[in-house]
Amino acid sequence: MMMNPSVIAIVDLSIPLVSGIIVLADFPPRKRFRKNAARYIKNRFGGIVLRVCILMGSPRLDGNTAELCKPFVAELLLHEAEIEYIELHGKDIAPCLGCYRCQDVADEYGCVRQDDMQTIVGSILKADVLVFATPIYTWQATPPVKAVMDRMYGLNKFYGSAPRSVLNDGQAYALIATCGCDLDYGAGLLDEALRRWCAHSGLPYIGMYAVRDEDNLASFQTVQAVAGARDFARKILEYKKES
Ligand SMILES: Cc1cc2nc3c(=O)[nH]c(=O)nc-3n(C[C@H](O)[C@H](O)[C@H](O)COP(=O)(O)O)c2cc1C
Repeated sequence: MMMNPSVIAIVDLSIPLVSGIIVLADFPPRKRFRKNAARYIKNRFGGIVLRVCILMGSPRLDGNTAELCKPFVAELLLHEAEIEYIELHGKDIAPCLGCYRCQDVADEYGCVRQDDMQTIVGSILKADVLVFATPIYTWQATPPVKAVMDRMYGLNKFYGSAPRSVLNDGQAYALIATCGCDLDYGAGLLDEALRRWCAHSGLPYIGMYAVRDEDNLASFQTVQAVAGARDFARKILEYKKES
């Protein structure tokens, strides 16, 4: 492995034989890594301060939202966080059936649907902070992000015979959004949805970092956009310190 300080290792959990290295400038990972659902990116010292799971919901894997994630991830890595960056587009994530059977299964996720969400839930449960990174589509998260949110119903045992519990208790949620409209008008509804969801589940909501798409990728490469993403990463690291 190259011993360059800007090089970070990927440990692939879904297919152990497929692992490699990427440079930060290459983030999100190059296409040859994309066939894998889950990647752990470890800092070069091997230490773990905070586990962050990022669910990236844009179908444009090198688009605006992914671009905004780059400085965010870079800042987290500087502070020795462990990051799992999951591209949801193309994953098999069926919609929630509303069957409520997960509510009768104690201490486990309990969803009857056997698809990629089973693996994604495993990743979610390992994280201290869960970040939804999504472009706004029709004032909401994109379809795979919304499907994941609905399918997370089984983490809250509130409505069935299972003893009341929150399987991801203590985890904090955060939102990174990109949108074409004014930020509050474009992304405000999703921000509020996460705020209410967290209040409902008794989880901390760190908040939203959003940037407006005015000039495609260039809007997310400005000094202001990059500094904001790094600030947001530091805010997330603060959560860990306070908890
Ligand atoms: C189908 C679709 C729906 C959209 N709906 C909204 C919207 O409701 N509000 C908004 O502000 N921007 C909307 N946009 C703009 C995107 O949110 C914006 O361009 C975003 O930065 C795209 O990110 P991406 O490159 O990561 O996919 C929409 C874009 C598409 C393709």
